[in-house]
Amino acid sequence: MLPEQHDILFSFIAIAFALFGIYVFANVILNCREREGANITKWGGIFGAFAIACFSMTVHMFSLVQADQLAFFFSTYLWLVVILLITWGVFLKSNSMEAQSPPIIRGFFFWTTVSLLLAGYTNWLPQQRSDPPPREAAVVGDLTMEEFAEMGRVIIFGAKQVAGQKSIGKGQCPLCHTFDPGDHMGRCPNLFGVEKRSHDRVKENRYATSPIAVGEVEPSSGIVKGKWDEVPEEYRRQHGPDEFTGEDYIRESVMCPTCYVVKDFGNDGDTRSPMPVIIKPPISLSRTEVNAVIAYLQSKDTPGEFATVTVPLPQDDAGNTGGAVVEDTSSDEDAPVFVTGNEDMQTMINTLGCPLCHTIPGIEGAVGELGPKLHEKINAPQRIKDPNYKGKATNTREYVRESILDPGAYVVFNEAEGESFPDGLMPTTFSEMLSVRALDKLVDFISQTEAPAGS
Ligand code: HEC
Ligand code: HEC
Repeated sequence: MLPEQHDILFSFIAIAFALFGIYVFANVILNCREREGANITKWGGIFGAFAIACFSMTVHMFSLVQADQLAFFFSTYLWLVVILLITWGVFLKSNSMEAQSPPIIRGFFFWTTVSLLLAGYTNWLPQQRSDPPPREAAVVGDLTMEEFAEMGRVIIFGAKQVAGQKSIGKGQCPLCHTFDPGDHMGRCPNLFGVEKRSHDRVKENRYATSPIAVGEVEPSSGIVKGKWDEVPEEYRRQHGPDEFTGEDYIRESVMCPTCYVVKDFGNDGDTRSPMPVIIKPPISLSRTEVNAVIAYLQSKDTPGEFATVTVPLPQDDAGNTGGAVVEDTSSDEDAPVFVTGNEDMQTMINTLGCPLCHTIPGIEGAVGELGPKLHEKINAPQRIKDPNYKGKATNTREYVRESILDPGAYVVFNEAEGESFPDGLMPTTFSEMLSVRALDKLVDFISQTEAPAGS
C-alpha cells in the first residue's frame, strides 16, 4: 500500500467513526423514545457528546501530517471509540433492550477490525512520503557549515517557496533586498557581492565619519560604530583578529543599519537608514540566527565553497549560551504567514511585516520609513480627493482596504524626498495572508491612525 493510500484509509476510518458516533446518538434517542422511563436528556447528552467528540477529532486529523495522524489515532481516537462502545453496551443493558446488536453493528465491528489490522500492517511499511522532518532533528546537534549557511538561507527566504510569490522568511530581507546580479529593486542595495564589499566598506573615507563617527553611539540601535568588541555581549564576535573585519561590517549593517548608510539608499541625505534593526522587533533574530544569516551572506556568491565564512558554527561558539542546540527556526517558516484575526493588533501587524516599511502610531517598534507614515485618518480622505487618484475607494475604510490589497492603485507622493514612494515595493500578497476577519480588523485599525499629539 502506498503512503497516500494509507493516508486515505486513515481519513476514511476517521470519517466512518464520526458517522458511527452520530449513528449511535440517533439510535439512543430512538430507543429512549420507544421506552418509557429511559432518561432521554441524560443518555442523549452523553452520546451527543461522543458524537461531537468523534466529529471534532476527525476534523482535527485532517490538519495533521501523516506521522502525527497515526499517533493521534492510536493514542486518542481509538480509545474514544472503545469507551463509546462500552458506554453503548451499558445503555442497552441498563434499559434491558432486546436485539442489542443489530446486524449493522456486527458488520461495523467486522469492518473496523479488518481496517485496523490493515492500518496496523501498513504502519510497519517504511514511510515514503516526505512529511516535514521532525523539528528538532534539523537544528539540534552538530551542524556543518553548509547546513548552517542553509539555516541562514531559510531565515532569509523561508523554508517553503510558494509559486508566484516572493519567498520571504522570518528575516524579511527579500521584502527590500535583491540577491542576484543585475536584479535591482530600487530602494535597497542588491546584496550580491556583499562578502567582497564588506572588506572594503570600512576603508571608504565616508565610513569614518558618515553619518556618525567611529566610536560614537548610534541612538536607534545603541551600538557603538566601528567597535566590534563593544557590541552587546550576546551578539559579539568571539574569535578572530583585533581589527574590524568584513564579518564585523556585515554584523554592524544588520544590527545597526544607521552606523553606515550605503550612498543614495538612506533617508534625509543618507543620514538615516530605512533598514530595521534585525535584532529588535518585529524581526528579533537571536545570536545564532544572526550568525547563520552572516554565514549565508558570506558564502552565497560562491556556491559549495565556505572558505570565506568566518562566523563560528553554533557548537563552536563560545558565547552561545544554548550550547550546540539551535533555537527552533523551522516552525515559523514551515507554514506560510497567515493571520486569523484572533491575534492582538500588535502581533498581527508584526507578523505581516508592515512595521518594516511604515511608521504606525500605536504600534510599538513600527518606525519603518520606506513607505508613508500611516496617518490614514487624515491621509486617506486627501488621497481620494487628489485629481490623480484613479482607485475605486470613496471613503477612508475603502481606501485603506484598497491600499492593502492593491497597493499599486494609487502611489503616494513623498513630500520630504520630492518624489513618489517606490511603486511595487509594498507586497501585493497580503490578501493571501489574512482571513476576512483579520482584514476587517486591520482596516478598522489603520483607518483611525493619526499623527500623535504634539508632532
Ligand atoms: C525595510 C527594508 C529592509 C529590510 C527588511 C532589510 N534591509 Fe538591509 N538594507 C536596507 C537598506 C535601505 C539598506 C541601505 C542603507 C544602509 O546602508 O543601511 C540596507 C543595507 C544592508 C546591508 C549593507 C549592504 C552594503 O552594501 O553595505 C546589509 C548587509 C543588509 N542590508 C542586510 C540585510 C539582511 C541580512 C536583512 C534581513 C535580515 C535585511 N538587510 C533586511 C533595507 C532593508
Ligand atoms: C516592503 C515595504 C512595505 C510593506 C512590508 C508594507 N508596505 Fe504599505 N506601503 C509601502 C510603500 C512604498 C507605500 C507607498 C507606495 C504606494 O502607495 O503604493 C505603501 C503604502 C501603503 C498605504 C497607503 C498610505 C497612504 O498614506 O496613502 C497603506 C494604507 C499601507 N501601505 C498599509 C500597509 C499595511 C497595513 C501593511 C502590512 C500589512 C503594509 N502597508 C506593508 C511599503 C510597504
